[in-house]
Amino acid sequence: MNQVKELLAQKLSEKLDVEVSDEDIERPEPEHGDFAYPVMKAASQLGENPRKLAEELSEQLEEVDIVESVEVAGPGYLNFFLDRSVYGEEVVEGLESENFGVVQNDGSVLVEFSSPNIAKPMNVGHLRNNALGDSLRRILSFSGYDVTAENYIGDLGTQFGKVIYGHKNIDSNKNFEEEPIEYMLDIYVKFHELAEEDEEVEEEARAWAKKIEDGDDEAVRLWKKFREATLEYHKDEYDRLDIKFDRITGESKVFEEARELVESWVEEGKVERDDDGSIFYEFDDEEMPGVVLLKADGSTLYITRDLYNLKKRNEEGFDYNLYIVASEQELHFKQLFQVAEDMGIETEGSEHISYGMLQLPEGSMSTRKGLIIEQSEIFDKAVEMAEEKAEEEINRNLENAEAIGIGAVKYSNLSVSRKKDMEFNWDTALSFKGDSGPYLQYSNVRAKSILRKASSSGELGDDFDDAEYRLLKKLSEFPEKVEAAAEHREPAKIAHYLSELCEEFNGFYHECPVLDSGRESHRLKLVELFVDVTDKGLDLLGIQALEEM
Ligand code: ARG
Repeated sequence: MNQVKELLAQKLSEKLDVEVSDEDIERPEPEHGDFAYPVMKAASQLGENPRKLAEELSEQLEEVDIVESVEVAGPGYLNFFLDRSVYGEEVVEGLESENFGVVQNDGSVLVEFSSPNIAKPMNVGHLRNNALGDSLRRILSFSGYDVTAENYIGDLGTQFGKVIYGHKNIDSNKNFEEEPIEYMLDIYVKFHELAEEDEEVEEEARAWAKKIEDGDDEAVRLWKKFREATLEYHKDEYDRLDIKFDRITGESKVFEEARELVESWVEEGKVERDDDGSIFYEFDDEEMPGVVLLKADGSTLYITRDLYNLKKRNEEGFDYNLYIVASEQELHFKQLFQVAEDMGIETEGSEHISYGMLQLPEGSMSTRKGLIIEQSEIFDKAVEMAEEKAEEEINRNLENAEAIGIGAVKYSNLSVSRKKDMEFNWDTALSFKGDSGPYLQYSNVRAKSILRKASSSGELGDDFDDAEYRLLKKLSEFPEKVEAAAEHREPAKIAHYLSELCEEFNGFYHECPVLDSGRESHRLKLVELFVDVTDKGLDLLGIQALEEM
C-alpha cells in the first residue's frame, strides 16, 4: 500500500464527494510532479468542467501537509509536488514497518508446482515452472497467506511401465546401485529404440503399468525402488535451487479414491458407463472435447485423479488452490473445472496459473545425449558462463558463480510475463550489465560494500537533490509492486521493478558520492534502504542476495 496515494485519494473523495481510490492516483513523469490525478472522469460524473474543477481542488489540496504545491495541467490533471522531507520520512516509516508495509492477506493457499513425471531427470520443460512456482510461494507467503507448497508428482503410469519392462528385458552398461538415474534413463531410451521396431513392447509396458495399479507384488516392488531413487535424485536438484516443498504427493496416492469417486457418480446416475465399461463424459458445451473418466479396465486417467485432488483440497479447507502448469494444459484445466462444477465440486478459488514456453537457442535436444536437455545441464552451463562473464565484464574472479549462474537463469525466466513464451538468451541472461539477475546481484553487492566502509548508520536529512529524490521515489514503490505481483500471480512485476530500481541506484551511485560527501548520513540511509529492498526483492524471486562478489 502507498500511504500517500491513500491519503490523496481520501482527501479527493472528501472534497469531490465521489469515490476516489488509491488506484486512481498515478505516477507521472518526474517533471510533472510526484503523483497525479486526472479529474476528467469525476468531472463528467458531476457534470462539471474538468479544468475548472481541477483548479478549485488544487487550492484545497495545497493545504494537505505533505503536499508542497499542486499544478493544474492539460484538460484537467492535478499534479502534486510533495514536500520532499516529509515524504522522505513517510517512505522510511513505510519501508521499515513490518513486511515493508506490504498489505497482509488472510487465507490459506495451496501452491502446486514442479510436479514432474518421474522415472527420469527433470528437463528444460520443468525449469520455468520451478522458478515461477517457487517465487509465487515466496511472494504469497510474504503477502500474509498461509502457503502450502505441494509437489504433485507423476509417479504412475506408462513411464514406470516402460522402465520396469526395460529393467527386465534390456541390458544396460549402467548399474542401478551405482548411478540409478543414469540407469533408468538408459533403459528408458533403449526401450524407445526397441519400441520403434517392435510395437508389442509398448503393450507390455502398459501391462506393467496396469500391474502397478493392481498391486502386483513384483510390479509394486520395482516401482517403489525406481520411484524412491528418482525422488532422491530430484531432492538434490531442488536443494541446489533452494526450492522447498511442504508436501510431496503424487498421482499414485490418489488413483484409488479417484476411481471410487467416479464410481459414486455412476451410482448417483450423474454419469453413465459405455457398453465396454469405460466412462466417457461429454460436455453441454459442444465446443469442449469430451473426456474419458475411467478406462474399460477400470483404471483412472490424469483428469480423474485431478478431480479427486480438487475435491480433497476443498475438504482440506484451502481458500485458494493454484496449479502452476504450462499453457499446454489449458484445455485440461478447463475440462477439469467444468466436470467438477457439473458434479458439484467447488471450483471457486482454484486457478490454473498458466505460463508460456521457454525456448533455448540450441533447441531442446541435447547433442551429447540425444535426449531432451536436462535442467541441471542448463544450470551447469550458466554457472560456467557466469565465471567467464565476470572476468570479461567486471574484471572479477567469482567465488559465488553457482549462486550467480542459478540466479541468472531464474531471473530471465521470471522477468518475462508468465503468459508469454520466452526465448532464452545466454548472453543477456548472464551479463552483469542490463536487465539480468547478475546485474541485480551486483548492484546489491556494490551497495553493501559502501555500507561496510561507513562508520555509522545513516539518517535522512531535510533536503533531497534530484538524484537522491528519484531513488527515494523508486524505493517507495516496492510494497505496491509486491502487492500487484501477489494479486496477479506475476513475479515479473517484481523482477521488472528491481531492474528499474537498480538502474536508478546505479545512476545515483555515479552522480552522488556517499562517504565523506558532506551528505554522508543522508545518502547512507538511502543506500541502506536500497540494500533492504533488494535483499528482500531478490529473495522473493528465489535469487540469492550475496555479501560480496
Ligand atoms: N505431472 C504433470 C506433467 O508433467 C503435471 C501435473 C500438473 N498438476 C496437476 N494437478 N495436473 O505434465
